[in-house]
Amino acid sequence: MKRLLSGITPSGDGSLHIGNYLGAVKQFTELAKTHECFLMVADLHALTTIQDKALLQKNTETLILYELALLGDLKNITFFRQSDVPMHAELQSILNNVTPLGLLKRAHAYKDKLARDVMEDDVNVGLFSYPMLMAADILLYKPDLVPVGKDQKQHVEITRDIAGRFNKIFSPVFKLPEPYIPEEVAVVLGTDGKRKMSKSLGNIISIFDDEEIIKKQVMGTYTDPQRIHANDPGHIEGNMVFTYLEFFGERGKTDELKKAYTEGKVSDIEVKNYLYDRLMKTFAPARKVYEELKRNPEKVKKILQDGAEKTHTVASQTMKEVRDATGITNQYSFFQYGLSHSPSDVQGLALISIDEFSRVEMRVGKVVEATYPEKSEKLIRLVVDLGDEKRVIFTGVRTLGYTIDDFLDKQFFFVTNLAPRKMMNEESQGMILAVDGADKPLFLSAEGMPLGAKIR
Ligand code: ADP
Ligand code: TRP
Repeated sequence: MKRLLSGITPSGDGSLHIGNYLGAVKQFTELAKTHECFLMVADLHALTTIQDKALLQKNTETLILYELALLGDLKNITFFRQSDVPMHAELQSILNNVTPLGLLKRAHAYKDKLARDVMEDDVNVGLFSYPMLMAADILLYKPDLVPVGKDQKQHVEITRDIAGRFNKIFSPVFKLPEPYIPEEVAVVLGTDGKRKMSKSLGNIISIFDDEEIIKKQVMGTYTDPQRIHANDPGHIEGNMVFTYLEFFGERGKTDELKKAYTEGKVSDIEVKNYLYDRLMKTFAPARKVYEELKRNPEKVKKILQDGAEKTHTVASQTMKEVRDATGITNQYSFFQYGLSHSPSDVQGLALISIDEFSRVEMRVGKVVEATYPEKSEKLIRLVVDLGDEKRVIFTGVRTLGYTIDDFLDKQFFFVTNLAPRKMMNEESQGMILAVDGADKPLFLSAEGMPLGAKIR
């Protein structure tokens, strides 16, 4: 299956309008039928323009909910947040060194900024190096396709350029990605009928706002200014209501209305009412999912955690290749990309995906001490003998009814290559392996096996 990657930046106010839907999200859902998709909320990119804590939080949360609601089924889709995968920033810092200044100076976003409102010396470096972070976003996943709007095409070209340079200077680590811009929706014009639909231009039709707001936006949509009376023959071309009906109307009914409109047999209001009804109908399921997700923050968090876990696996593999190719890895190297701390490990036990399983080191250990730490009602502190070393490992299973007697002097399997994690002022150096039981996690017994034995 071919792979694609794309992202949306939570700039503006993080909301999505029908232009974003047709130009981006709908493309993703179509492509997900036949592609493995990595879709990202590019919050690090938003920092280039949004430097207000509350606003960035709100925008990012809004975009996450809206996008998830519109995507619906996440089959073939890994949905994640850029800042949850630190390898993006790491790769950017390496790409810095193979990117000539001139390449970035030619980027439209930077040039537009200069043309508009700021002096070169005042442009923040984040904005200037925006295409490089985007290159890192893309190259980490080695996608075949990068679906973007027309305005982002140049960034994908810059990415190809940077990837080509890296491959030539070091070794061919990166795949050169192709931009993918479906022609018919390349740019959806706004309700003014003149400019690209964009939040900042106030010419949008929103998806998740209150019904009255959407109704107002539809009623204010540009039609045919020459048409004064409902029985004047009207024009279809450039008439935004009909443009939108191409996407949201039913074929037969839309053709009927077109004909009636050109013959002066139907009023603007009637056509607009039809568009409004179709929009409400199209987005009813997404609006419902949105309400549901909003009420269930844990569900949203779980989706993001699953996404981060999957992306860590892919991104750290690429980073390993980059470290090797550049010579950052040498004979004294020890660095390993740690496993992500995933949703299910919040209680200090490892319930893991199959991807992580492939990278997990698992050893037999004997619990030689088990105590209840002071000031904690959840944790149990284990001292685990792995044969050649003893480790402190915290596990949070008291809330599930486990006591120290369930562990003391018994042998279990432990995950031993996790990054240490600070708990109760101590480092927890691993996790006890659990399997999903009917009502609570179960610990697999390793009784009789040699201490420290590496199972995988
Ligand atoms: P906005 O211009 O409203 O701020 P963004 O620039 O954040 O939107 O774009 C998010 C995604 O939606 C991008 O993939 C972009 O190409 C797409 N997009 C935005 N506006 C339109 C539009 N009017 N027509 C088609 N696609 C659009
Ligand atoms: N810059 C893109 C936009 O504003 C969003 C984005 C960030 C992106 N990283 C990406 C798109 C990687 C495609 C691939 O729309």
